[in-house]
Amino acid sequence: MTFRIIRCLPVVLVLTACGEPGGGSAAAEVASRSLQPAEPALADVYNRSCRNCHTVAATGSPLTGDRPAWEPRLAKGMNTLVDNVVSGFGGMPPLGLCMDCDADQFEALIQFMAEAR
Ligand code: HEC
Repeated sequence: MTFRIIRCLPVVLVLTACGEPGGGSAAAEVASRSLQPAEPALADVYNRSCRNCHTVAATGSPLTGDRPAWEPRLAKGMNTLVDNVVSGFGGMPPLGLCMDCDADQFEALIQFMAEAR
């Protein structure tokens, strides 16, 4: 019985997150999950790091392809954004969990995620 309750918990948490007020985050989340960089090497990096949070609204991250969410971030300038990924920012751990990414890859990943679709 206890086991069944524990197994259901993640489902409840996900549903709660989807029901949060705050606009079309659930739709933006679904849309973000269908996107990945065209370049295979970048897609590989994206899928094993950034994607884990930037397609999940509950993390509080700007979602992939959600241009309005990225606008205020982009206004800081690309260098600041890359620096913030490297050092970690708010709920984002240092390097966005991509330990072997270089600055050029971070920039390409940010451009990909911030692009409107
Ligand atoms: C563990 C979750 C997580 C991972 C993995 C992650 N991010 Fe983030 N990211 C976040 C969160 C949460 C925020 C919002 C932080 C805030 O505003 O407090 C964020 C914000 C950002 C920002 C905006 C920073 C700013 O100055 O406003 C950029 C750029 C970014 N992420 C890039 C990336 C890139 C590139 C990757 C992959 C290499 C990545 N993130 C991986 C959670 C993550």
